[in-house]
Amino acid sequence: MANRRGILFWLGLVSLGAVGVAASDGDGDRNGTRSGWLTSRADVAPVTNATYGEECGSCHLAYQPGLLPAQAWTQVMDPAALADHYGDDASLTETLRAEIAGYLLAQAADQASAPRSRAFAVGFDAHAGTGLPRITERRYFERKHDDVPASLVTSNPDVGSFSQCNACHRGAAKGVYNDSRIDIPGYGRWED
Ligand code: HEC
Ligand code: HEC
Repeated sequence: MANRRGILFWLGLVSLGAVGVAASDGDGDRNGTRSGWLTSRADVAPVTNATYGEECGSCHLAYQPGLLPAQAWTQVMDPAALADHYGDDASLTETLRAEIAGYLLAQAADQASAPRSRAFAVGFDAHAGTGLPRITERRYFERKHDDVPASLVTSNPDVGSFSQCNACHRGAAKGVYNDSRIDIPGYGRWED
């Protein structure tokens, strides 16, 4: 356990360095498409498919594919599930649906090399529960957020729910989730 925390700590430091450089170099890569060591230091691989970013980034952050395993994305991208998407209608034409599903499956958490992505895949059971799968209900997510009180989330008008990753993780759009970029509205920086 102590070992594991040590590794995450070092990963955090490396990412912190990457963010520092990225912030000072003009910052033109909204979709994270630029290759090279800066984006490779993200905690999970950034979104690289523009169609996905447009279609799935209008109501909430376009979640990185590496935040859910392939079986979970298959459930989310089912046509009937899109029509009743966590209470919203997120239906797509079949062409768009197929392109996005293909992208998500190829980059899913269980296919990814980033350690945090692999953590999001641990213990997923496609047959457990009745609703659609959630990133925010993954075991790793719950473990990482169990110190964050509801007063800062659901009863915080500037956050609303844990699904709004980018309300607190200022690097979320680039796949940066480590402690260095956490700033909770009305509370401030998170000191672990
Ligand atoms: C019309 C608005 C809308 C669109 C478009 C949309 N979503 Fe969502 N999505 C929602 C809402 C609302 C929630 C639930 C948020 C909450 O509980 O606070 C949600 C939740 C999610 C979650 C679960 C987040 C969690 O809590 O862990 C995933 C995964 C997700 N959406 C993926 C997608 C994908 C993939 C697409 C594109 C095919 C998409 N969404 C398009 C409205 C939308
Ligand atoms: C209300 C603010 C808030 C929201 C919303 C939120 N997080 Fe977090 N998250 C935190 C805090 C605070 C921590 C650090 C907890 C700690 O270290 O005790 C954290 C930690 C993490 C970590 C672990 C980082 C590390 O280096 O160990 C990951 C990964 C993460 N969050 C992903 C997400 C994702 C993905 C979403 C959206 C689905 C999300 N978070 C939504 C506040 C938030």
